[in-house]
Amino acid sequence: MTFIDTLKKEHGTIKDLFRKVQSEAGRKTRPFEQHWTKLCSELMGHMEGEEKTIYPALMDTDAKELALSAIEEHSAVKMVINQLCDVSYDDEHWKPKLKLAKDLVEHHISEEEGEILPKAVKLFDAKQLEQFHKEFTGIRKETMAIYR
Ligand SMILES: [Fe+2]
Ligand SMILES: [Fe+2]
Repeated sequence: MTFIDTLKKEHGTIKDLFRKVQSEAGRKTRPFEQHWTKLCSELMGHMEGEEKTIYPALMDTDAKELALSAIEEHSAVKMVINQLCDVSYDDEHWKPKLKLAKDLVEHHISEEEGEILPKAVKLFDAKQLEQFHKEFTGIRKETMAIYR
C-alpha cells in the first residue's frame, strides 16, 4: 500500500469512528467508550504523523499556503478533541463539541484528498513518498500509544 493509500484508508477509519461515536454518544456504554478511545488515538496519531512528514516537506514547495492552512486545521481539531477529553460525556456541551470536531475533520479530509494529496503526488517521487510513509508509521504508532 502506498503512503497516499494509507492516509486515505485512515481517513475512512476516522470518519467511520466519528459516526459511531456520534450515534452512541451519551449512552456510556462499553462500545461508546471503546470507539471514543480508538477515535482519539487514530486521529491524534494520524495528524502527528502528517505534521512530521508530509507537511514540513510541503512547506518548501508552492503548496506552502495549503500546508499552512491544513496545519491550522489540525490545531483547531486538537483543541476541540482536548476539550472533549476534559468534559464529562453527560455534560450538555459534549455532543455539540463532538459535532464541531467531526465537521472540522470532515472538511479537513476533503481538502487533503481533493487538493493536498494530489499535489503531493506531483511534487514528490515514489521514493520520497515511501520515506514519508516509513517515518509516518513510526510517529503514528508512538502518538497512538499516548491516547490508549
Ligand atoms: Fe489526513
Ligand atoms: Fe491532516
